[in-house]
Amino acid sequence: MQQGVFSEAVCGNRAAEIFGFDLGCEAKRKRVAPVTGERVCGASGLYIRLLFDDVGPLGREAFARIRLTGHSAVGKRTMQPEGWTMPYKNVVRRQKAFATGLQRFSSVEEMIGTLRPGHSVHCMHPEKLHEAARTFVEHFPGHSLYAIKSNPDPYVLETLHKAGINHFDVASLGEVRLIRTMFPRAHLAFMNPVKSREAIRAAYFEYGVRDFVADTADEIDKIVEETDRAQDLLIVVRIAMPKGSAACALTGKFGCTPDQAVELLKIASSVAKTGISFHVGSQTLSPSSYADAIRKGGEVIARAGVKPKVFDVGGGFPVKGLGMEILPLEAYFDIIRAEIAALKLPKSCEIWAEPGRALSGECSTLVVKVNLRKGDLLYINDGSFGNMFEIASMNWKNDCALYRLPRKNEETAAPSSKLAPFRFYGPTCDSVDYMAGPFLLPEDANEGDYIALEGMGAYMACSQSRFNGFFSDAKVEIVSTTRTTQLKVVK
Ligand SMILES: Cc1ncc(COP(=O)(O)O)c(C=O)c1O
Repeated sequence: MQQGVFSEAVCGNRAAEIFGFDLGCEAKRKRVAPVTGERVCGASGLYIRLLFDDVGPLGREAFARIRLTGHSAVGKRTMQPEGWTMPYKNVVRRQKAFATGLQRFSSVEEMIGTLRPGHSVHCMHPEKLHEAARTFVEHFPGHSLYAIKSNPDPYVLETLHKAGINHFDVASLGEVRLIRTMFPRAHLAFMNPVKSREAIRAAYFEYGVRDFVADTADEIDKIVEETDRAQDLLIVVRIAMPKGSAACALTGKFGCTPDQAVELLKIASSVAKTGISFHVGSQTLSPSSYADAIRKGGEVIARAGVKPKVFDVGGGFPVKGLGMEILPLEAYFDIIRAEIAALKLPKSCEIWAEPGRALSGECSTLVVKVNLRKGDLLYINDGSFGNMFEIASMNWKNDCALYRLPRKNEETAAPSSKLAPFRFYGPTCDSVDYMAGPFLLPEDANEGDYIALEGMGAYMACSQSRFNGFFSDAKVEIVSTTRTTQLKVVK
């Protein structure tokens, strides 16, 4: 059986059920029955992968009809029966069948006033995604690979891609598939230093991935074996870096010592093109952390005596909204540019970065509702098992604002202009569902008020569980540049 990704058949209504397929051969008007189909991903849209028998010699042009309850999508594709080793290449045209379907508002305030939501809502700011993408595309001195783990929502991917991001750092087969489904010609680098054999094999043979990271000789062996000793590999060696100025350290789990990296580069260069990478830690607050890491990387390359094809400075670039003072990204890029120039790398060496948070972090304002107040504790309708995992685990103190709606048969009192520190408990019965903050809000914050938290685009929505029956992936689009910077009363 061949697996073909049909196209992105996107349906804004996630409740839709797939109830039928039709796969036909346009040229000969002869039908081929598809075997089955499945939905993939689904954070904001509905993507469909069709599995069907070998198309054989039936023709090159075929079309498929996918019917969803209430909608249908038709897409054309070219089939090359003899060329199925890399199915993604057969997807010649993506067809956007439906718009993302997000409800649009001109401000967060308008959304709250109109929907009065009883569940949390991500208010997406497409202009923030666009701005972040353009900053990297125009000012980073090399390729920017979006680390999709930070937010794999198709809405986010599509917006970044439209703004010029066409390189992706993927860390699992699921991420490989998602990007190939959406952007068949994008560049993918598999940057998880420990991969399963199955994932390496499928990434190479089915999805055309050529670039892999490793931090041990065993992983290099796995890559070489599972790609059947391919001659077109790039193996990037990841060096461990100390915490430095990162608010969120990524030490311990991945990366080798500089001495080990020298040996690994020598091993890798006998079987592949090579590169080096590191990660200075997420939300890195000082550009000098990149300078230190780049110098270390340069020493490793010089000692190994290899000519790298890639020098990858990783992710770690910071965002606003998490309650920290940050420097503009250009300050980071200037230091990276200068330090890399000093290494005098071969002209053919590509410079890469793997930004996750810096691309997706500012794209969402999360609106939550207060269910109860006990002293300085606000019991809200989202939490650490939901869309606030990173706030709880990293103890972020996000910038926030309070919105108050008129209550039934009551005069609405404007929220106090005096601010006080608050802590949050999430909706589940588990005590770890707790966000210590403190979050600065009007001192009279109370039941029924809405709180809008900034900087909620990265590592939040994608880590939520369904624990205790709570789950919300509700999302709307805010189309103006109105931000939640001050207290407001919705009338
Ligand atoms: C290999 C790799 N690259 C890039 C990133 C993205 O980092 P950030 O979101 O801090 O930019 C991560 C985050 O965990 C990572 O593990």
